[in-house]
Amino acid sequence: MESFVLNTKILVYTFDESSDSIKKLINEAKLATKGAYAPYSGFHVGAAALLSDGKIVRGNNQENAAYPSGLCAERVTLFAANAEQPDNPVTAIAIAAFHDGEFTEVPCCPCGSCRQVMTEVENRFDKPLRVIMYGKNKIYEVGSAKDLLPLSFGKESLTE
Ligand code: THU
Repeated sequence: MESFVLNTKILVYTFDESSDSIKKLINEAKLATKGAYAPYSGFHVGAAALLSDGKIVRGNNQENAAYPSGLCAERVTLFAANAEQPDNPVTAIAIAAFHDGEFTEVPCCPCGSCRQVMTEVENRFDKPLRVIMYGKNKIYEVGSAKDLLPLSFGKESLTE
């Protein structure tokens, strides 16, 4: 039997240690939490997508009384960015979550469905998507969405 081991490099840093451009993207994600519609969970998530021409598109989670009809902040953001700017690659996304009166101390990491959508964004633009997961205590960053979803299902899976 064979096996292989996958390694994932995750950068860990604090807000103060981050670059000005990352600070700006995180602040946009934090601002986006204010528009979240989260009456059921009380978990207000914001995301900010950086496009290759420098534009930033914000989004947030939108819940629904029929729970599965709601959508996470990351997918609202990426779908909005791609709908408005279909030829403008998304190069980074920052995520932040506000809960119980404060931003979470631990990094807000995307759910599996959002990771799947992030890998599609990488594939459609053929560019890595940096994912920046904000927490008050520490920030995690990966250089590519695929780092968060190894062995993912993509369009090659449909043809091979
Ligand atoms: N949520 C997001 O928007 N993004 C995440 O990364 C994790 C979870 C939302 C979904 C739901 O509205 C609420 O947070 C609680 O799960």
